[in-house]
Amino acid sequence: MSRVALVTGGSRGIGRGIVLSLAHAGHDVVVNYAGNVDAAKEVVAEVESLGRRALPVQADVSVAEDRARLLDETWAAFGRLDLLVSNAGVAPKVRADILEADEESFDRVIGINLKGPYFLIQSAANRLIAQPSDEAGTRPKIVIISSNSAYTASTNRGDYCVSKAGLAMTTQLFAARLAEHGINVYEIRPGIIATDMTDAVTAKYDDLIFHKGIQPIRRWGRPDDVGRAVVAIATDLFPHSTGQVIDVDGGFHMKTL
Ligand SMILES: NC(=O)c1ccc[n+]([C@@H]2O[C@H](COP(=O)([O-])OP(=O)(O)OC[C@H]3O[C@@H](n4cnc5c(N)ncnc54)[C@H](O)[C@@H]3O)[C@@H](O)[C@H]2O)c1
Repeated sequence: MSRVALVTGGSRGIGRGIVLSLAHAGHDVVVNYAGNVDAAKEVVAEVESLGRRALPVQADVSVAEDRARLLDETWAAFGRLDLLVSNAGVAPKVRADILEADEESFDRVIGINLKGPYFLIQSAANRLIAQPSDEAGTRPKIVIISSNSAYTASTNRGDYCVSKAGLAMTTQLFAARLAEHGINVYEIRPGIIATDMTDAVTAKYDDLIFHKGIQPIRRWGRPDDVGRAVVAIATDLFPHSTGQVIDVDGGFHMKTL
C-alpha cells in the first residue's frame, strides 16, 4: 500500500520541492494550493509521471471551512493519511518597521502562517489518532515548515517572525500531546531558499551569502534540500525523535567566531 502525504502550499516553491521528493520516494500526494490552479496541475502531472497518484485541492488554510474540506477530500480520495506537511505560508505584503506595521498585516500573516496550521494540525491529529496503523505498524507523522525567523529578529517583518516562533511552540505542543498515539511531530527550519518568496530580495541575500558569510555553506538553499529532509522523516529514519528541530539552512543557525 502506498503511503499518502498532504502538503499545504504544494503548488510551488518549497512545497513543490517537498511534493516531488515525496513522490520520488513512493508517496501519493495531496497537493493543496491557494489560488494558482495551473501551477497545481503542473505539479500533479509531474507526480503522475513518476507513477504516483496526486490530488490537487484548492483550500485557503486560514479558512476553517476550507481546512475541513481539504481533510474531507483527502480521506475521500485515499482513505488515510501517513504524513501531513504544513508548509503554506506568506511573507507580509510590505516589509514595515515594527514601530509602524499595521494590524491588518499582522492578522493576515498570523492567520495563514500560524492560526490556520495550528487548527489544521488539530483537526488532522484527531483523525490520525483514530486511524489504524498500516500492516507494517507505522504511524502517521506531522512536519511543520517554520523558518530561521522563528529565532532571528527581523524588525521589518515582525508579524512573520512571531508567526514562525509560534509554529516552533506548535511543534512542541503537538509532539508532547501526540506521542502517546505514536504520532511524531517535527519542525523543519529552512534558511534562505530560492523561491518566489525570496525573489524580491535576491540581491540582499546574494550579498549576505556570498560576501558577508552569513552561513558556512555558501550557496542558496533549494526546495529539494527541504524535500530530502521531509523524506527522511516520512521514511521512518527518525523513529525515536519527536519535537525535533531540523535546520535546513547551510549552517546559518550556528554562532561562529
Ligand atoms: N523561501 C525561503 O527562504 C523560506 C525560508 C524559511 C521558511 N520558508 C517557509 O517555507 C514555506 C514555503 O515558502 P516558499 O518560499 O515556498 O513560498 P512561496 O511563496 O513560493 O510558496 C508559498 C506556498 O504557500 C501557498 N499559500 C499561500 N497562502 C496560502 C493559503 N492561505 N492557503 C493555502 N496555501 C497558501 C502558496 O500557494 C504557495 O504554494 C512558507 O511557510 C515560508 O514561510 C521559506
